Amino acid sequence: MTYDAAGGTVRESGDGREWRGWREATERALYGPEGFFLRPEGPAGHFRTSVHASPLFAAAVARLLVATAEELGTGEVDLVDVGAGRGELVAGVLAAVPAGLRVRAYAVERAARPAGLDPRVEWTGRLPEGVRGLLFANEWLDNVPVDVAEADGDGTVRYVEVRADGAERLGAPVGGADAAWLERWWPLAEPGARAEIGRPRDEAWAAAVGSLAAGRAVAVDYGHVRGARPPFGTLTGFRAGREVAPVPDGSGDLTSHVAMDACAAAAHARAPGVLTVQREELARLGVSGARPPLALASSDPAGYVRALAAAGEAAELTARGGLGDFLWLVHRVGGGAATAAG
Ligand SMILES: C[S@@+](CC[C@H](N)C(=O)[O-])C[C@H]1O[C@@H](n2cnc3c(N)ncnc32)[C@H](O)[C@@H]1O
Repeated sequence: MTYDAAGGTVRESGDGREWRGWREATERALYGPEGFFLRPEGPAGHFRTSVHASPLFAAAVARLLVATAEELGTGEVDLVDVGAGRGELVAGVLAAVPAGLRVRAYAVERAARPAGLDPRVEWTGRLPEGVRGLLFANEWLDNVPVDVAEADGDGTVRYVEVRADGAERLGAPVGGADAAWLERWWPLAEPGARAEIGRPRDEAWAAAVGSLAAGRAVAVDYGHVRGARPPFGTLTGFRAGREVAPVPDGSGDLTSHVAMDACAAAAHARAPGVLTVQREELARLGVSGARPPLALASSDPAGYVRALAAAGEAAELTARGGLGDFLWLVHRVGGGAATAAG
């Protein structure tokens, strides 16, 4: 169903050349029949997240889980990985937690359970309720589909519509809750200025934080905050390791940076959120890119090589201009607001 740019009429042609808003087009392209994320190769076949970059990331999340369990005063804790991909993070965390801590692990994912996943992981399409522990969402919110808005030559803000081949046109004026969201979080003034309307991500994050009875909810993503929004938005595509034009035909990822301050506000009623950057959070969790002392090379050559490799991986996870700039949004439920580790 689409709105004609001129008259706002509804049209459905069914010939594969329909105009749709970006939210609906993305939903179909990523999660519809033969959708990009439901394909067998999974996200790791097309791009690299912190989870794939190094097992140090899962080890850091495991330390956060342990800290959360200690704060809750329990030896049995929940771990919920939202947007779990093929379960790489949840499996890595389970492998890294110390013996003695009992973990109920959930992977919340729209794709099917992958073969061979640790049988302790419960694979589910829905958030479990009443979670006591750590809910962690790495690069989930950027894949929650959103509409795109653009200010036309008169300054009227309109939905951007797209065809399956990526052609775009301007559609109906943005109104209602979407217009209110833009006004509060991402006002568009100049003709040609564009924004992704983050309302569905706010709602998704509020629901995720709301599923916690006690513990921490952490969203990690590339993002921006009011006052530093990109003037033309960030919608883009990824396919086979390369950034490509966003085309909603199911052949690649469609993603845009997350308005993390808006997500924080949406979940504030449950617990206040704190925004920091990955390089600081991982440093607090003991991930360091510092080179090992050279003396180790002669006393323990194999250990030196291992430490050097780990330092290289840590450097990638904490790099400026790369993964280290990712935003961490942390809500502590049943406790004060804080950084992830503190
Ligand atoms: C970019 S991948 C990230 C995978 C993994 N967390 C990582 O960091 O490697 C995003 C994942 O979120 C999943 N996803 C998107 N929306 C979801 C939803 N509403 N519920 C569960 N999973 C979702 C997608 O299917 C996809 O596997």
